[in-house]
Amino acid sequence: MRLDKRLMIIVAAGLTLGAVAALLTLPGLRERLAGAAAPVTSVGKAQVGGPFTLIDPAGKRVTDKDFLGRHLLVYFGYTFCPDVCPTGLQVIAAALDRLGPKADRITPVFISLDPERDTPQQMGEYVKAFHPRLVGLTGTPEQIAEVARAYRVYYKKVKDEKSTAGYSLDHTSIVYVMDTKGDFVAHFTHATAVEAIVSRLQKML
Ligand code: NI
Repeated sequence: MRLDKRLMIIVAAGLTLGAVAALLTLPGLRERLAGAAAPVTSVGKAQVGGPFTLIDPAGKRVTDKDFLGRHLLVYFGYTFCPDVCPTGLQVIAAALDRLGPKADRITPVFISLDPERDTPQQMGEYVKAFHPRLVGLTGTPEQIAEVARAYRVYYKKVKDEKSTAGYSLDHTSIVYVMDTKGDFVAHFTHATAVEAIVSRLQKML
């Protein structure tokens, strides 16, 4: 009886998490959820992150090894994103500014999920509009697929008549906080309050 109850709770929790994940991938709904302050969630070592090879704005090859020794904020999106990505990047920039000099120990990274349109140069120019230290990375479709898989990021092309290229991307909007060894520490979203992010980052630094 007791075990049954526990199982039911586990199943219910699993279903809830699944439902939340499904909801977060729906365009528009994600935006509406933004009203509710999303918490900064920390869990034990999660299977998030891992090796990657990408291309920096200068066209140079970069890997996860180049970032070892740095705390990272890793966010995925694309420069043609109409709303969610700009919000996420603004939240990251605001948190870094609020942290003050301590923020120098953090490298914020924006990885493109749209390698067809996001050239290295475009990524470099785009991120500078949000924060001078933001690093914009892109790659080949295969490199992007690999890093997205490592960070468990969902993305999918959807038909969009309003977009000049005829498509937009439906994608996960999660900012991953990684430690100096490349291990996952916590995550937040574009809807998390800046104060909550700052206090969590302060604990890590
Ligand atoms: Ni986006």
